[in-house]
Amino acid sequence: MNHNEKMRWFREARYGLFIHWGLYAIPAGSWKGTVYGHGTEWLMKNAEIPVEEYRQLANEFNPTAFNADEWVRMAAEAFGVKYIVFTAKHHDGFAMYDSAASDYNIMRTPYGKDVVRTLSDACKLYGVVFCLYYSQLQDWYEPYGFGNTWDFRLENARHFRKYLDEKVKPQLKELLTNYGEIGLIWFDTPYEMDPAQCAELADYVRSLQPGCLVNGRVGYGLGDYRQMSDNSIPVLAYRRDWETPMTLNDTWGYRRSDENWKSPERVMQMLVDVVGKGGNLLINVGPDELGRIPEGSVAVLRTIGQWLKKNGESIYAAQAAPDFPYQLNFGGFTYSAQKRRLYMHVLRYPVYPFEICVVGLTTRVRRATLLGSGEALRCVQTYESARDEHRLRVWLPEKNPDPLNCVVALDLEADPQVQTL
Ligand code: GLC
Repeated sequence: MNHNEKMRWFREARYGLFIHWGLYAIPAGSWKGTVYGHGTEWLMKNAEIPVEEYRQLANEFNPTAFNADEWVRMAAEAFGVKYIVFTAKHHDGFAMYDSAASDYNIMRTPYGKDVVRTLSDACKLYGVVFCLYYSQLQDWYEPYGFGNTWDFRLENARHFRKYLDEKVKPQLKELLTNYGEIGLIWFDTPYEMDPAQCAELADYVRSLQPGCLVNGRVGYGLGDYRQMSDNSIPVLAYRRDWETPMTLNDTWGYRRSDENWKSPERVMQMLVDVVGKGGNLLINVGPDELGRIPEGSVAVLRTIGQWLKKNGESIYAAQAAPDFPYQLNFGGFTYSAQKRRLYMHVLRYPVYPFEICVVGLTTRVRRATLLGSGEALRCVQTYESARDEHRLRVWLPEKNPDPLNCVVALDLEADPQVQTL
């Protein structure tokens, strides 16, 4: 399987759901009366909670409201995501699956069921690509893992090879052998790992499942695509494969008090921006200790999913649009080379005479229509030699057909060419 074949599903998906769920959902960012900032999945580190105390959370973990089928059906049918990345083991070292490599796992909790198994089965049922997050360096439970400087002596970290051989590789083998086809291993925080060890992990994943992608945080450019920084969208189009992980509020793991949800309009802007620059958007939810995805995040993602039902072709399998010479005040473009169609995403609707003017496109537009209804729109292209400006003008209906994002399909005579200043 060559690289392009491996990347096919990723390039067609464009939109995925990140799920951060583990023991950290129980304290939800607070410990002994103190609230700790940033991601709640970092609580053990931020509060320097001794292993012997933190591990007691495993004796409480019993998400009675968890239903994998409900999660995945909602993700596929209501949210419109095409892949799920689930935290199999985060920095706290706790495995959310039945691991023979470490007793510190979900089978040793009152809940006692393999969440990775039920999610994997549900993803197969609903046609969602199942992917797994795995923290390959940080492990605050293990003396030879990285990052727990309050329980263990720093010298232990020198024996990182022991951690790789006795926990990381055995667990990767379990995850890539026992749960069917895995779309992607999503590594995280490689920090100062030895490049040879990073290459060893990337090769190890590929030796177990040649079709499984490895994200950029395996380290040193050894992944199958570039992983952008958290909540970060490149300013210019990055014309290779890439993905931005994005929180919906201000934390990856569940925080009871954090209802600072991004609006549907904000998420839509990010989705158009990311796909229009050639990337994937991996939007996050952090379920609570009972296995419920917070209603605030569900409401936002349902709104986006409703829009995708009608306009999905402008996102799924879409590619980067050309770099236009001027900022696009109306919103943004995505492009389908297969359909030779430029999608104009109108996030800010014009007032009378409801005209949008774009400078720079030199390619002829055969036809302009409203995506969905197919209603033809008046579209005029002109060239003014004195100012060397190619202008495309499109007139929209007086009533905005879709206030969240009205998409105009521009069918082109050739792949889009844009003038530079
Ligand atoms: C950062 C955080 C980690 C989170 C990840 C998501 O690496 O350390 O907690 O899972 O971002 O992108």
